[in-house]
Amino acid sequence: MELYQAIEKRRTIRKFKGAATEAQLKRIIAAGTQAPSGMNKQNWEFVLVDDPATIEAIGQIKYVMNRGKAAGEEVPEAQEKGALRQKDSFKNATLLVVYCNKELADSVGPWLCIENISLAAVAEGLGSRIARLGGDAAAQVNKLLNAPAAMELVAALSIGIPDEDAAPRTLRPEGSWLHQNRF
Ligand SMILES: Cc1cc2nc3c(=O)[nH]c(=O)nc-3n(C[C@H](O)[C@H](O)[C@H](O)COP(=O)(O)O)c2cc1C
Repeated sequence: MELYQAIEKRRTIRKFKGAATEAQLKRIIAAGTQAPSGMNKQNWEFVLVDDPATIEAIGQIKYVMNRGKAAGEEVPEAQEKGALRQKDSFKNATLLVVYCNKELADSVGPWLCIENISLAAVAEGLGSRIARLGGDAAAQVNKLLNAPAAMELVAALSIGIPDEDAAPRTLRPEGSWLHQNRF
């Protein structure tokens, strides 16, 4: 697939009907690791989660994070709906949890790696979704995945066969972000 095409085609997918194959994941992750990084630190570690029970547990952690209150406690309907959608978006896909080492002090490289991964997924005919897990949610996932203390959770990526068209997205008008020589 041509690069510009892949860039245009990459959209966040939140509904999947199947996981990526092992060979696809291998290629996608290898593409991720070709990303640039400060001083070539290559500060990324991946936990490939294909165990359905663990994926479900992480989906539940994200659900509670997004609703902002423990399961069962009342939240506004729209918030509950959004949180449930987040939980569902973990289903039927492989989960790739990206970590970086806090001691290497480079939190940007992992994000470039994630973008490479997202684009490589498109080239494989797959969809992906970035999920951020912060605060207590990140601590719970770290515990579940046995992450060493130096590891910082960057994001969790669901990767799989898309089962939806991406949500409508409005881009800023072309050129509205460009300034020439000075602001
Ligand atoms: C740093 C970052 C964090 C994100 N966190 C989430 C998330 O927690 N859950 C989710 O469903 N999407 C998440 N997204 C996806 C964005 O919502 C999505 O990229 C944005 O709406 C634009 O849509 P597009 O990816 O289809 O272009 C995240 C994206 C980025 C870059």
